[in-house]
Amino acid sequence: MTTQSLLAAAFMLALPGAALAQAPAPAGDAAAGSQKIEKCIGCHGIVGWRTAFPEVYNVPKIGGQHQTYIVRALQEYRAGERSHPSMKAIAATLSDKDIADLAAYYSSALSKTASK
Ligand code: HEC
Repeated sequence: MTTQSLLAAAFMLALPGAALAQAPAPAGDAAAGSQKIEKCIGCHGIVGWRTAFPEVYNVPKIGGQHQTYIVRALQEYRAGERSHPSMKAIAATLSDKDIADLAAYYSSALSKTASK
């Protein structure tokens, strides 16, 4: 193989990655999201939406919330544009796909019929 064709091959390999990086936010999958809520239900799954650590405070209801709103909120916590220590720490662990799936789940009817 010539250097030129090697370069061409490398360029072709790099393309899908570049296309992904520029792609719009991934589509959310509610079923996949339902597998990712363990990190959330400790707070957002409690009836009355209150948590007692480090002090008692209200946790907003996110089930049934608009999908775009949930995505935006999580991105803002992750970026530090919203500052809540727990949510910032949790959002930091989420990928764009996780956020999309969680938003799809919480905004969907699934979240209202799920037992937790
Ligand atoms: C330690 C408790 C806790 C956990 C765990 C938790 N949250 Fe939160 N969440 C909160 C609190 C408290 C707020 C309100 C923070 C504020 O005032 O900005 C909040 C806010 C939010 C908001 C913004 C709601 C709004 O109306 O502004 C979203 C969306 C959200 N959480 C999603 C999630 C998701 C998804 C997970 C799991 C990956 C999760 N949270 C895990 C406590 C928690």
